[in-house]
This record gives sequence, structure tokens and C-alpha cells, in this order.
Amino acid sequence: MKIVFATNNAHKLSEIKSILGSSIEIVSLSDIGCTVDIPETGKTLEENARIKAAYVFEHYGLSCFADDTGLEVEALHGAPGVYSARYAGGAGHDSEANMRKLLGELSGEPHRNARFRTVISLLQVNENHPQKPIEHQFEGIVTGHIATEKHGQEGFGYDPIFIPDGYNQSFAELGETIKNKISHRARAVEQLALFLKAGR
Ligand code: IMP
Repeated sequence: MKIVFATNNAHKLSEIKSILGSSIEIVSLSDIGCTVDIPETGKTLEENARIKAAYVFEHYGLSCFADDTGLEVEALHGAPGVYSARYAGGAGHDSEANMRKLLGELSGEPHRNARFRTVISLLQVNENHPQKPIEHQFEGIVTGHIATEKHGQEGFGYDPIFIPDGYNQSFAELGETIKNKISHRARAVEQLALFLKAGR
């Protein structure tokens, strides 16, 4: 079985390949010659994940899955959520600016519960209706809280300020091996893997 993962993020690609094993061939956007930065214009993680998967299905006619992740902070009514990458404005993906803004918003706030949520949208070629893919979504969540300052060097994004439940260190201190066992993305990918392996 061959399936496109709508990403060019090498870290995400290798994480997913290691969970899925060799029985399912995963290819990236660059592997299929897609160089477009698919715009994430949705208002929810679900919409954005589907938009990315649908782009590949519509333009290449291939089965595809895509993910979208957000950090949801209770005291901020779920913000930054779908806007996590662009929370501090600008072109986005400025993790230092995003963390600074979040710590500022939570300054003096004792209630710091938060969670990372990943949604994966899977669109599979439907042999009976070539224009109409078979659709499934999978979700992975890790709960925790936001620290009052940054800790640790590993990981990316909000990792230095997110402390998962059951631990007293941030994702950036815990490191990749522990994070990949308990993370939102790992949990969503496990759901996807169970589904794909069952249907093989
Ligand atoms: P994406 O949907 O995976 O691109 O994630 C959107 C944004 O959420 C990223 O730019 C990061 O700021 C944040 N993010 C996603 N996953 C993680 C994670 O595992 N740790 C920390 N931040 C993350």
C-alpha cells in the first residue's frame, strides 16, 4: 500500500514511518513532485488537515493523509489553537515570539492547564467513485500545563513551556524518546496506524 503524507517536514515523516513500519509505503509531497505550500485557510484543525489532504487527492489522485496541531490553553478559551504557528503574528513559526506572547498572556494566571491536539485527515481513493474519496479523521491529545518560564533545549515550537501530565519537566527537557511515546502526534499516528494495518 502506498500513501502520501502531505508534508515536507523530515522530522514528522521519519516519526510516522517508524510507527507505521515497512508494510505501508509513505511518500512525502516532494516525493510526488508537489512543491506547493498548501495554504491552511481553515478555522479548525479538522478543516486544515482536510484541506491539505484534499489538495493532494484532487491534484494527484492519490490516497493521502495530512495533520494539523494546535496548543489549546484553558484560561485562554482554547487559544492559540489553530493559530499556534502564527500566534505572535508575522509569517509565523517564530517559536520564541510565540512563547513570549503566551507567557505574557498567562502572566499572573494560576490556572495554566493546556493540551496539544493533533488531527489527522485521511482521504483514500474510492475505486467505485473516483471523485469521492473515503474519509476518516483521527485525533491525538496530550494534556498538561504551561510553565512560567522556558526549560530545556530539545524539540521545537512550544516544547520548552509545556509540561505533560505525570511529569515535572517540559517536553524540551524530556527529549524525543519520551515525547514520541506520549505526544499528541504519536497518539494520532497510532490511531492511523491501527486503522491502516487493520485494512491491509
Ligand atoms: P503543525 O500543524 O504541526 O505545523 O503545528 C502548528 C504549530 O503548533 C507549530 O508551528 C508549533 O508552534 C506548534 N506545535 C505543533 N506540534 C508541536 C509539538 O510537538 N511541540 C511544540 N509545539 C508544537
